[in-house]
Amino acid sequence: MSTMQMISRIALLKKTLTVVSPKLQHCFSHSSRSSLVVVDSVRCRKPSLIVQQFASQRANFSSALPPRPPGANKNKGINFTWKSFFISGGIVSIFTAGMLYFKQEKMKQLESQRKKSLGQAALGGKFDLVDQHGRPFGSANLLGNWALIYFGFTHCPDVCPDELEKIVKAHEMIEKSGKADPIKMVFITVDPERDDVPAVREYIREFSPKFIGLTGNREQIEKATKAYRVYYSAGPRDHANDYIVDHTIITYLIDPEGNMVDYYGQTKTPEDVCSGVIKSMQKYKSMNSRLGFL
Ligand code: NI
Repeated sequence: MSTMQMISRIALLKKTLTVVSPKLQHCFSHSSRSSLVVVDSVRCRKPSLIVQQFASQRANFSSALPPRPPGANKNKGINFTWKSFFISGGIVSIFTAGMLYFKQEKMKQLESQRKKSLGQAALGGKFDLVDQHGRPFGSANLLGNWALIYFGFTHCPDVCPDELEKIVKAHEMIEKSGKADPIKMVFITVDPERDDVPAVREYIREFSPKFIGLTGNREQIEKATKAYRVYYSAGPRDHANDYIVDHTIITYLIDPEGNMVDYYGQTKTPEDVCSGVIKSMQKYKSMNSRLGFL
């Protein structure tokens, strides 16, 4: 075969292959090396085999690429690090917020205790009197119990009876509520001259057998009324030597530690007293449980 004949045959083959497969055309146009392979192989192989070979070479070429350097996974490493950073940051933030919350709660409690101690200094305190059975009875006997304390006198025409009835009604409501701790009712006279032990015993029996009635000598009564800042003043005596004692009309609520935590004036209803007492009891329990927790 002459050189001219070979050149024209190669040109013909090239033209034929171009028509047979667009993929081969792609090979011809993109890789001179591939072109040579195709041209060289086309004599003994089908175009499809040539395509397979070319594809295989490409695959080999791809697989022959150098492995990724260790730094190639750097982004993944960074992501993990940032994730850890944010998780750690989140935990620290939650912990800090928790600490701040408890600190704030403790500050509130300390403030409340401070106010309470101020109130305690202003109202309430120790007293030593005698009960309706003639036995010594002091503020220490009330420790561990809630108590409603009322100051009055047995000869009071209307106000004291109304207030004592109110206390008894409130007491019944508190007991029936099922939400309250036991609570005592205490009557303390501001008229020790007439209200001796038998007089107090007879008087409180009219209202409730559960009432504790207290009396004492003038000094003892003076001490008790001063502790609660109870005002009282005996009026002029009439021809029968009778007199009215003007006095403060307040019912005090004492907690189991002997602190005065609330008080109810004449305008309060038994319902008001009942709800007020239950509220104070719940507050007391909640504060004690929080202090226990801390
Ligand atoms: Ni009275």
